[in-house]
Amino acid sequence: MIPPMEQGIESGGRSARPRAPRNRTLRLSPDEEDRYAAKALDTSTMTPAPDGRLRLEDVSNAVFLGDSSELGPLLPRVSVDVLFADPPYDLPKVFDGDRFAPMGHEAYLEYTRAWLGAVAGSLKPTASIYVCSDWRSSSAVYLALAERFTVRNRVTWKRDKGRSSASNWKNASEDLWFATVSDEYRFDAGAVRVRKRVVAPYRERGVPKDWFEDESGRWRMTGASNLWEDLTVPFWSMPENTDHPTQKPEKLVARVLLASSAPGDLVLDPFLGSGTTAVAAKKLGRRFVGIERSPAYCALALRRLETAEPGSRIQGLDGDAPSDKPEGLTTP
Ligand SMILES: C[S@@+](CC[C@H](N)C(=O)[O-])C[C@H]1O[C@@H](n2cnc3c(N)ncnc32)[C@H](O)[C@@H]1O
Repeated sequence: MIPPMEQGIESGGRSARPRAPRNRTLRLSPDEEDRYAAKALDTSTMTPAPDGRLRLEDVSNAVFLGDSSELGPLLPRVSVDVLFADPPYDLPKVFDGDRFAPMGHEAYLEYTRAWLGAVAGSLKPTASIYVCSDWRSSSAVYLALAERFTVRNRVTWKRDKGRSSASNWKNASEDLWFATVSDEYRFDAGAVRVRKRVVAPYRERGVPKDWFEDESGRWRMTGASNLWEDLTVPFWSMPENTDHPTQKPEKLVARVLLASSAPGDLVLDPFLGSGTTAVAAKKLGRRFVGIERSPAYCALALRRLETAEPGSRIQGLDGDAPSDKPEGLTTP
């Protein structure tokens, strides 16, 4: 049984409530929504490659309106370097009027197998795969990934949102499973180093050994762990925020792409939502292909992509966001 505090169904629809002046949530007028949604691609107008699949040039930097179970098998074979997938969790949720009902472990495992199978042919042998989940769906995601790929880690990230419960622990984390197609894959640990507080500062001839000091303390740079505490879900004062009910932070996707892809690589998101993966990929100079079945969310993604440029700022990556608490730093 789902605890009462987690039963709330959030809607992805546009709220009629007036917004505070400092609310930076991206909202589209009905006209804008129609205009941007019309820019989402439709495979029926495309000339397929000789193997019947889509051509690489047609999927590079593309947002497709459609179902990933149908479009996934059409993606060019062996073309994708990183798969980042944020499927609906096994929870009641409404995505733009499309009701996703909880199905239970066995059915969710089957569901995960099905969508992974739909996109698997597009992955390069060197590809990395990241799949989001909450604690409830995490075991099914692990099992489905392990059937096809080498599971390498489970990142847990702090996601502090929602109310606490009188009868359960408040859920304040999500999982991000990391797998690879083979043993040959890219992982650039140097691109995702984090600051960690130095507990025992060591000096050599009076000079700090591998640490530095600023007004907030003594730090050293170290490899990122699988516990990410410096993230926040997008909220109303952040320009990346939209009305999508389960939007992920750009910083989360950016960290993945910095570690597991090179500039120019192709990143696939078969559940694109408001476009976070595509936006982070574009800002970091990666190519993207996204599939989303809601025209309203395709419109949000395309609107966000319009203003995202290679090199554009990703909030928190440069250390200036309120959420960007260095790893290991505790506040009183
Ligand atoms: C958890 S949300 C993804 C949110 C996204 N990561 C973001 O930051 O906005 C899942 C999305 O997948 C879409 N979706 C669900 N099933 C789909 C399918 N079979 N094909 C394409 N999109 C689907 C939903 O409309 C929803 O927007």
